[in-house]
Amino acid sequence: MTTERVRWGILGAGNIARTFVGDLVAQGLEVAAVASRDARRAAEFAAELSIPTSYGSYEALVADPGVDVIYIATPQAFHAEQALLAIDGGKPVLVEKSFTNDAPEAVRVVAAARAKGVFAMEAMWTRFLPTADAIGDVLERGSIGELVSVSSSHFQNLDVAPTSRHGNPELGGGVMADLGVYGVSFASRYLGEPTSMLVDGEASELGVDLSASVLLRHGAHRTSATLTRMDAPGSNRAAIVGSDGWIDIDSVFYASTSFTVYDGGRGQRELLRFDKPQHVGRGMQFQALEVERCLSAGELESPRMPLDESIAIMRTLDEVRARIAAARSSSVSR
Ligand SMILES: NC(=O)c1ccc[n+]([C@@H]2O[C@H](COP(=O)([O-])OP(=O)(O)OC[C@H]3O[C@@H](n4cnc5c(N)ncnc54)[C@H](OP(=O)(O)O)[C@@H]3O)[C@@H](O)[C@H]2O)c1
Repeated sequence: MTTERVRWGILGAGNIARTFVGDLVAQGLEVAAVASRDARRAAEFAAELSIPTSYGSYEALVADPGVDVIYIATPQAFHAEQALLAIDGGKPVLVEKSFTNDAPEAVRVVAAARAKGVFAMEAMWTRFLPTADAIGDVLERGSIGELVSVSSSHFQNLDVAPTSRHGNPELGGGVMADLGVYGVSFASRYLGEPTSMLVDGEASELGVDLSASVLLRHGAHRTSATLTRMDAPGSNRAAIVGSDGWIDIDSVFYASTSFTVYDGGRGQRELLRFDKPQHVGRGMQFQALEVERCLSAGELESPRMPLDESIAIMRTLDEVRARIAAARSSSVSR
């Protein structure tokens, strides 16, 4: 790195990239360049968000010596090829969720990053929020005993037309890639990789998963439930249950939010109330701060979002989707 400040490059000038850049700038971080497949879109995005440099190709962004790390903000179908492009060019990457299209792609990206000695991380921003830190403190103190169960719901009313990002299989559409990944990652964070699963769900005519109810077992005595669909809004709450109490996480559980810790004894007393934290922006900057910390410490992956865990999460998403597809084909043939 040639300067003390980390200089971010943005790959893909779309919806979430706009929010990400806004949060970084509000936090005082440096966004040096943006690239789009379309030079005019990149220039307009750069002008709107006061980014000094714009490019009409992703290759040019990767080649820019004034960019230290690249944030990939395109549909899932392209994450692996673009992460590999950046890694091949020696650039650290923060890759939007879900990490890739499927587990084999995740394995390839991680292998390339490790072989090249380049930092990589899935942009599961939820894990880096002050809310997640506060939940971590509660669990570390043993306030709710031994963890046994995690549950969450994630419903949104999205455009699922066959041409949309969510409905088009060619873009990596589907509810598990976009919304269900939050619940699976949340369960994985607290309970580890699942050991078995029960799944029900629906898919579109094109085979894109639209809704899923996912019950996971994470070894003995540990279970999780993830409910998700992309044709209806919901409260999007979550709970973490231990042997001695539980944590109710308020809407929306995967964003910057409040929670309450309860003692599970007879009185079911409220032990602690954590109010929604005050910070600038939506909170996407906290994952960027973790990337910057790792880069300055010379760490090639974050212990808070390990690469092997991102691969395992992709394995779970793949299995859930396969079960929904199998259920669909058996119900179609009946
Ligand atoms: N963390 C969060 O809260 C959050 C929220 C929403 C989405 N996401 C994730 O962020 C990623 C992007 O989502 P988004 O809603 O920002 O998407 P989007 O606005 O539809 O697209 C983002 C960019 O992807 C490229 N792109 C779009 N369609 C393409 C196509 N057909 N072929 C090739 N490239 C295409 C374009 O880049 P160019 O500018 O180069 O044309 C576009 O600007 C997804 O992985 C999604 O899961 C995360």
